[in-house]
Amino acid sequence: MNETSEAELLTKAKIVLDRNDRKLWTVPASDLYPHQWLWDSCFIAIGLRHLSVERAQTEILSLLRGQWTNGMLPNIVFSPQHSRRERELWRSYLSPYAPRNPYTSGLTQPPMVAEAVVRIGKKMNLPERRSWYAKVYPHLIRYHEWIYAERDPHQEGLALLLHPYESGLDNSPPWISELRKHSMPWWVSLIEKIHLDTLVNHFRRDTRHVPPGERMSNIEALAYWAALLRLRRKAYNSEAILSRSLFAVEDLAFNCILIRANACLKEIADTIGKPLPESQMTNMSRTMAALEQLWDEDTGQYYSRSFASHKLIEEPTIATLLPLYAGCISAQRVARLVELLNKPRFFRSNWPAPSVPVSSPHFDPIKYWQGPTWVNVNWLIIDGLRRNGLYPEAEKLRQKTLALVVKSGMNEYFNPLTGQPAGAANFSWTASLTIDLLKQG
Ligand code: GLC
Repeated sequence: MNETSEAELLTKAKIVLDRNDRKLWTVPASDLYPHQWLWDSCFIAIGLRHLSVERAQTEILSLLRGQWTNGMLPNIVFSPQHSRRERELWRSYLSPYAPRNPYTSGLTQPPMVAEAVVRIGKKMNLPERRSWYAKVYPHLIRYHEWIYAERDPHQEGLALLLHPYESGLDNSPPWISELRKHSMPWWVSLIEKIHLDTLVNHFRRDTRHVPPGERMSNIEALAYWAALLRLRRKAYNSEAILSRSLFAVEDLAFNCILIRANACLKEIADTIGKPLPESQMTNMSRTMAALEQLWDEDTGQYYSRSFASHKLIEEPTIATLLPLYAGCISAQRVARLVELLNKPRFFRSNWPAPSVPVSSPHFDPIKYWQGPTWVNVNWLIIDGLRRNGLYPEAEKLRQKTLALVVKSGMNEYFNPLTGQPAGAANFSWTASLTIDLLKQG
């Protein structure tokens, strides 16, 4: 890419971020997503730091306003103007730990926040960085402690998730197949059987903004709603939820991000001269070691695992490449993953990397997390390739990702076969990570 087109792309990305700026935070996309989302804001801050360190800090501090008193960081902090409907949907006020103001959801999302904090810190001189880290460290340590206390009850090292929304890859095949097998309420199956699912359209907001073929199906949406009711009934108390049903997934992507987040947390603690507590150091090494249990030698892939049965959920997805980002796997495994990235009809496609292998029976090039290419996932893979010293591979994917955005705009996701844009237009993390990828050149 030449300098002029880089400058044009940068300007376009800035315009998207300004348009989605709500002063304290940046919305993912103005109509479809009017609130603040946890991992979105982390990716947004990673790009924003190149434009304004202060704005990037505000993005993170604003997320922290939503922290629960038990340490959880919720996946959504609601905008006061749009929260009436959400309030009744989520009812997080049922939990004694939820803040009353701002109003939030009741579950979490991949813990990208320590990475965002460190990246912002890299833009500061040492005294500034120390004071930035010191300000956010108490929040981050409480969040990581919450993850281990509530979501790793048997101290296995792998955090469990209670709802697919927590994975960030909402309708990814492993979650859909687990839900279908173990947690599909009878009334959802009945609605599916008698083809009444079109009625759900009346209640869905997302399909008013994006063509239904690009979103999750009505049955998936209903099953997710039912899964949310299960959490709401128990006031989002993990122990109480698990005591009724063991439907939970040790999600691969989440745990890879957690491994990296733990390393970032340690970097933050070391920089401010406050060594991490022993318990956190133990958790950190336990998670790194436990990643090995998610590897399947026969198929040469990593998978998510069912919490109850300890069986791997053998549905291939792009998450199999995220151990690269975790940064703690052997050179041999790294080579196997790179083979998958380059394998035709797998992750190799005209516009990589598809969220589900092209040859998978679940693959649909425009359906949300069941096929499209997402810029945040590419960013994680690029970072992972670099972390493992694979600079030419990383550069190839970086160039391809930028070319995709030049061709099709700053959409939420893209068709990996044709490069056509899909989902919401003017999507914030696509814009912010485009800026970050440009700055890596
Ligand atoms: C969708 C995505 C999720 C994202 C949210 C806001 O739910 O699946 O990852 O955080 O939208 O952009």
